[in-house]
Amino acid sequence: MAAEDQHSDKTLWRYHAPAKMDRVQLAMWIELLEKRTGICLAENRKSFLLTSLSTRMRELGYDSYDAYFQYLLKGRCGAIEWEILVDRLTVHESRFYRDPRALALIQDQFLPELSSKRGRLKNEQQKSIDIWSLGCATGEEAYSLALLLEDFMLSNHLEGYYSITATDISSAALSAARKGIFHINRLKNVPASLMDLFFSREDENHYRVAEKLRRRICFTRLNSLYLSRARLGMMDLIYCQNVLIYFKRRYRHMMLDQMVKYLRPEGVLILGAGEISDWKHMEMEAVSYSGTLAFKRMQGERPS
Ligand SMILES: C[S@@+](CC[C@H](N)C(=O)[O-])C[C@H]1O[C@@H](n2cnc3c(N)ncnc32)[C@H](O)[C@@H]1O
Repeated sequence: MAAEDQHSDKTLWRYHAPAKMDRVQLAMWIELLEKRTGICLAENRKSFLLTSLSTRMRELGYDSYDAYFQYLLKGRCGAIEWEILVDRLTVHESRFYRDPRALALIQDQFLPELSSKRGRLKNEQQKSIDIWSLGCATGEEAYSLALLLEDFMLSNHLEGYYSITATDISSAALSAARKGIFHINRLKNVPASLMDLFFSREDENHYRVAEKLRRRICFTRLNSLYLSRARLGMMDLIYCQNVLIYFKRRYRHMMLDQMVKYLRPEGVLILGAGEISDWKHMEMEAVSYSGTLAFKRMQGERPS
């Protein structure tokens, strides 16, 4: 073999099929993920788990699942590594104006009610509208909510204040969200008038969100499994879509019960349509708006 070939053999990146994982090992990884994040990885997603794990292990120089598992359990280094791995094991797919029906509910019902009945978003009102985008991934959802608010205020000549808290478990997704630079493919549904007002061209395929919009959103890391420990204020709107689907029923219910505690009376919780069918809460009533799944917090308890 020529010297050149010998050298390239060492330096070229090569695809390696992930090593085999036995049932016991698989159960250990699934349990770790579920315990720490609530995410329930079905056994049929084994190949996704193996590919994600082995890619990360190769980056670190590990060749045994068990050794890497032990590393993750060890102190500060393990905790830092866990943050990186969680990013690889979570799905961050998102896009602007992803659920038009849910956004129409906010625009046609939630915001008009809030501004007319409760006088919010009026110049003379000091109180802000507080919104939480839970499981915000790379930020498309939070920015869409901000655009909706801006659009509503512009069309109704209002100058009120709003703030959006956007949380996710993935630090990498959150730092992409903070940058606010998006590929045109993800922006297809943004109305042209709002593109002109709130985006500037970054390069041939990317746009940057205006500073004015970015200032309204605080992106912060939060594990939804531990909502009771979250230091958040009370919200007028909680928007949580395409997150609950990754959790087992009992975690979904636990998280939803916790979300209610962060809602002001008459505050609204919007989920993805069809994401949950069997959740009820004494203080919540269903909001009727076709093609959506939403609940409003009542002033008191629901009459039985
Ligand atoms: C498919 S994305 C949804 C993005 C956005 N909500 C949307 O509908 O376009 C799901 C997000 O949930 C986040 N996630 C999963 N488990 C979580 C947990 N335990 N705590 C917080 N976020 C979590 C993931 O990191 C991911 O960014």
